[in-house]
Amino acid sequence: MVKRLLLLSLTALAVTGLLVFEEREGKKSASGMVVVKIPSSFSEEALRGGKTFLKNCSSCHGKHASGKPGMGPPLVHKIYEPSHHNDSSFYRAVELGVKSHHWPFGNMARITGITRGEVGEIIAYVRELQRANGIR
Ligand code: HEC
Repeated sequence: MVKRLLLLSLTALAVTGLLVFEEREGKKSASGMVVVKIPSSFSEEALRGGKTFLKNCSSCHGKHASGKPGMGPPLVHKIYEPSHHNDSSFYRAVELGVKSHHWPFGNMARITGITRGEVGEIIAYVRELQRANGIR
């Protein structure tokens, strides 16, 4: 009886350990710096923004704005919630570039070849991702 109880608690412990381990592993995706939950659907605007993001921003900000080690920060991050980085900071970042101030990646150069309208669509995309991840 005691043996069986011991076995049972050992199994429970192993399972808990496994779950905790998986939870910890789950915080980082293979390529990004944070795990980004993808919303089940995007607005039309955000869908277009996602495509422009993939071409112009994800080389540094990672797939789904999850960040890229050594390159650039995740934009799905509390730092970039609307009350701290409003939409004009996105327009400014693209038009003028960003002086490194939050992260150790260096400056972001301005991005050419995309319109203000396209930046608006990128913002819609990033905001929808943020909201799906509890950042509002
Ligand atoms: C060559 C790499 C690179 C590319 C490409 C890039 N970024 Fe960045 N971006 C950075 C880095 C690095 C930072 C972080 C600067 C810091 O705060 O230390 C940054 C910061 C930002 C910020 C925060 C601005 C602020 O006020 O703090 C925004 C918004 C942003 N990027 C948007 C974009 C968008 C949108 C695109 C694509 C159109 C883009 N970035 C493409 C590297 C890049």
